[in-house]
Amino acid sequence: MGEECNFKGKVCVTGASGYLASWLVKRLLLSGYHVRGTVRDPGNHAKLKHLWQLEGAKERLELVKAELMEEGSFDDAVMGCDGVFHMATPVIGVVGLTSDPKAEMVEPAIKGTRNVLSSCKKNPSLRRVVLTSSSALRTRLDFDSKVPLDESSWSSEELCEKLKIWYGLSKLLAEKAAWEFAKETGMDLITVLPAFVIGPSLPHDLSFTASDVLGLLRGETEKFKGYGRMAYVHIDDVALCHIRVYEEPNAHGRYLCSSVVLDNNDLVSMLAKRYPSLPIPERFEQFVRPYYDLDTSKLRSLGFKFKGIEEMFDDCVASLREQGRLDSY
Ligand SMILES: NC(=O)c1ccc[n+]([C@@H]2O[C@H](COP(=O)([O-])OP(=O)(O)OC[C@H]3O[C@@H](n4cnc5c(N)ncnc54)[C@H](OP(=O)(O)O)[C@@H]3O)[C@@H](O)[C@H]2O)c1
Repeated sequence: MGEECNFKGKVCVTGASGYLASWLVKRLLLSGYHVRGTVRDPGNHAKLKHLWQLEGAKERLELVKAELMEEGSFDDAVMGCDGVFHMATPVIGVVGLTSDPKAEMVEPAIKGTRNVLSSCKKNPSLRRVVLTSSSALRTRLDFDSKVPLDESSWSSEELCEKLKIWYGLSKLLAEKAAWEFAKETGMDLITVLPAFVIGPSLPHDLSFTASDVLGLLRGETEKFKGYGRMAYVHIDDVALCHIRVYEEPNAHGRYLCSSVVLDNNDLVSMLAKRYPSLPIPERFEQFVRPYYDLDTSKLRSLGFKFKGIEEMFDDCVASLREQGRLDSY
């Protein structure tokens, strides 16, 4: 009972084994979708075990191979799907440096997005594409810090280059490429702009952002120094938001997905009080970043409610404890 009548159609999730995509797959399966996830190595059982353990996976999950840099690689994956959630992109540290960031992050993000969308275009049953971008809209010099940034704001390409914010640049250019493609082809595209994602992690290995958070909870503040003031959102809200905008017939354009924007020191002083056994400093030195806030009224107007910062970290800490990653504290 339930399986047949709840069936919501077939959707594809790119980069399905990632931190955020795994949670989206979980939520999609729970909602009754048949999910075809793309991964780079379907034979890597250790890396994919958490997906096969999800409720509904045995009946309604398929995992197929696809690589962002290969033209046509996503043709089979998206064929016959009603919707595509494009999440795959190299996330090699949000402020980290790589030896060749353009080749490692920027090119795969842009070329990969074009490849995925070209494959989508070949699928006659496709209804809508939801692309995961980023809430990093403030890498620009010309915004008024008294006015919260909304979906009309775009970071400056030149400033991202100058400040070597390669991940931000990769997200900016990939989203722009997607909107150009949608304009040229008439594709129904929606983009979700999540803040820094906090919550439980399903994959065995922690993603870059999840390991930065683990570092902070262990008292390592180096990575967060560079973040300054940051926007945060619960991983479950990001997954639910993707599904909400996919299902909502009137949804359109970009959707900021952020619960709260906090200064680092406000965050750590809350965390230090809430988890006294963890070695989180009450304050730490950090780069000064301009004040900014985000206006999320567009998503809220769809009736969407965000979980708060306490719930994000309670769920994150509980999951890290369960995985034995905070055993020393
Ligand atoms: N985490 C955040 O705080 C946050 C915030 C805003 C937006 N986002 C966006 O959310 C999405 C997921 O991020 P995440 O944090 O979940 O990162 P993640 O765990 O590193 O997931 C990225 C996924 O992309 C796949 N991928 C990377 N390069 C690929 C390639 N060349 N071909 C095919 N697949 C490739 C990875 O596959 P492998 O497992 O094979 O490497 C992985 O499954 C990204 O678009 C990211 O920009 C994340």
